[in-house]
Amino acid sequence: MEDAMKVFKEFFELPFEKKSHLYNTHDENVKCKLYTSSSNYENEEIHYWRDCLIHDCTPLKESFDLWPQNPPRYREVVGEYLSQVGKLGSRILDLISEGLGLESDFFAHGYKEDFFFTVNHYPPCPDPSLTLGLPKHCDPNVITLLLQDIVPGLQVCVDNEWQLVQPCPNAFVVNMGHQMQVISNGKLKGAEHRVVTNAEKSRTTASYFVVPSKDCILEPAKALTKKDLPLYKQFRYAEFMETYKALNTQEPENLLEPYKIKKEVI
Ligand code: OGA
Ligand code: NI
Repeated sequence: MEDAMKVFKEFFELPFEKKSHLYNTHDENVKCKLYTSSSNYENEEIHYWRDCLIHDCTPLKESFDLWPQNPPRYREVVGEYLSQVGKLGSRILDLISEGLGLESDFFAHGYKEDFFFTVNHYPPCPDPSLTLGLPKHCDPNVITLLLQDIVPGLQVCVDNEWQLVQPCPNAFVVNMGHQMQVISNGKLKGAEHRVVTNAEKSRTTASYFVVPSKDCILEPAKALTKKDLPLYKQFRYAEFMETYKALNTQEPENLLEPYKIKKEVI
């Protein structure tokens, strides 16, 4: 973890010429790219104070050649990091299924088929009152394993109040995504979070997103709807992502709205 964080920081410290070739905001087919704010920079109303490196990591061995060649240790260190984080993600999902009372291999059925990896860099912001590092959102996937350095910035919304998630050395923050809320039939809630900026210090984080396959059918786990009514209807992950991209992701509570089963008034 320490080595990976070091390499992520080294990447963002590289001179512009060494990373400008990765800069790309449009092309969804480019598998390793660098952008500022969001991948929709041209059309967004507000720009956010972050640079983001995003690259594929499945299958790990095949995506290796797409990753940055600088710093020279990037591929070796991040390859090992992602292989370990992948195992940890699976282990956490096994424990969550045990906790929810689901069969032990529940998440093996398409829920952890795809992975996204982003490295976020939030430079010092001269006036943190003007913008955020990342706006309020809930991750659209199942769970996300976030590595953060010692500079705080992540906030989570609890009872309509923003609370700072204090960085804890050698620990990951595990964020529940929208799909975990659906699968658990509302027992686990997708965490609403955002990132604030810091006037003096830069901050680096890395997010490992455990993502269902495009064709994965999402619905509340059957084991959880024997006693309780299902809160959500079935949908394909790809369909959800279409809505996710079209709707305002800063209103996370609205994103599952189209899939909610409305109670009939008798
Ligand atoms: C994200 C995210 C938080 C952070 O990448 O989705 O919420 O602290 N990152 O960088
Ligand atoms: Ni997030």
